[in-house]
Amino acid sequence: MSGRVPSQWEELTAADPAHSTWYVERFRKMAADGQDIFGEARLVDAMLERGSRVLDAGCGPGRVGGYLHRCGHNVVGVDIDPVLIAAAEQDYPGPTWLVGDLAELDLPAGGTPADFDAIVCAGNVLTFVAPSTRDAVLTRFTHHLAPTGRLITGFGADRGYDFPDFLSDAETAGLTLDLRLSTWDLRPFTDDSDYMVAVFSRP
Ligand SMILES: C[S@@+](CC[C@H](N)C(=O)[O-])C[C@H]1O[C@@H](n2cnc3c(N)ncnc32)[C@H](O)[C@@H]1O
Repeated sequence: MSGRVPSQWEELTAADPAHSTWYVERFRKMAADGQDIFGEARLVDAMLERGSRVLDAGCGPGRVGGYLHRCGHNVVGVDIDPVLIAAAEQDYPGPTWLVGDLAELDLPAGGTPADFDAIVCAGNVLTFVAPSTRDAVLTRFTHHLAPTGRLITGFGADRGYDFPDFLSDAETAGLTLDLRLSTWDLRPFTDDSDYMVAVFSRP
């Protein structure tokens, strides 16, 4: 991966090496306290037939992909942070969890077919990739979708990636916007929304 641009998450964890562990423990505590940490995954599951192929892009400690695996889907999770991938393997065994940069995503090169029925990119992941790699990340997503596959993204406003810029980048990457929501529990998107869930397909 020489010459690659570090993601904003890597810069964060380089400045604060305890950040990854804090993030893992945060979700473990929420789960132990009985909080709902699977809302994003439930929405994605509602879009899929049983046994679908799912890529959890920027999977972190694996809550989204882990839930979808338990629903009976075939899940691959990719994340740049090895601490989070180790937590995913421990907390949610079953999916294929891989350390990798979404800007260089090429799963067929490692023997994993690219035709995903869903790529889910939850938890502000697109605001943590290096801004100069956003186009590459979105283009790689397009190339990893099955012809009828869909990309589902979610991130907040005021995180450095304006929604209009993102929608323009997605279109350039060959994605068609099907649906915009303001929450993962299906509230409509409005001009005042501070979060956007977007569903894309391939033309
Ligand atoms: C806030 S966390 C969200 C994790 C997970 N999706 C969730 O919702 O729990 C953001 C994640 O994006 C990952 N990430 C950021 N840039 C990345 C890149 N270029 N390639 C792969 N993962 C990346 C980070 O490592 C981190 O796990």
